[in-house]
Amino acid sequence: MIPVLAIDGPSGSGKGAVGMAVAERLGWHYLDSGAVYRALGLAASWAQLACDDESRLCALAGELDLRFVREAGAAEPQVYVNGRECGVALRGPEAADAASRVAALPGVRQALLDRQRAARRPPGLVADGRDMGSHVFPDAFLKVFLTASPEVRAERRFNQLKTKGFGVTLPRLIQEIRERDERDANRAVAPLKPAQGAVVLDSSAIGLQDVIDRVLAMVSRSS
Ligand code: DC
Repeated sequence: MIPVLAIDGPSGSGKGAVGMAVAERLGWHYLDSGAVYRALGLAASWAQLACDDESRLCALAGELDLRFVREAGAAEPQVYVNGRECGVALRGPEAADAASRVAALPGVRQALLDRQRAARRPPGLVADGRDMGSHVFPDAFLKVFLTASPEVRAERRFNQLKTKGFGVTLPRLIQEIRERDERDANRAVAPLKPAQGAVVLDSSAIGLQDVIDRVLAMVSRSS
């Protein structure tokens, strides 16, 4: 059985940075499931689909083509959604908002399930998202639910977005994070909450490297 480490949590909890670093240390594959929902959100807005048009969104999800192409020497990979280079748009607040809306539709989640499970390849997978441990990989050998206070998460997102050139303000981001948490936590299917058996880790007062080390220590203890 190919091992899966599931890292779930809300926006700005640090699960992306932690997941990527842990995957690199272990030499495992890494799945950013949020990017899949963000790509669908972007594709839906390009196609001018309403975020509640479930049947069209399911069709779009079934055909979604998401590629990360890393050019030699580039710090960040280029991202192509349905053949269109989307630059930093995938990481922006609009893609995040659209992602959270389309992700609330049960049919869309179902349509994206196999694509996410296909990322489980030898020697192992670190999967980050909201429902990796609860729905997509319920047999993950270790489930971590990473969290932090909304203010700390908003500040982290603020710094990330500013670095990428997005014009955002901290109060606006705190409000957006609260709205997105609320939607993600209260949807009918695969809501944002710790999976059964998940280790909950609050990173509000812990630095990134410390969180990475703690997760790596949990991996060693569980293997
Ligand atoms: O992790 P992120 O901020 O890139 O995710 C963007 C949105 O996608 C998030 O608000 C909810 C949705 N999402 C989800 O519903 N399930 C996942 N496994 C990952 C993301």
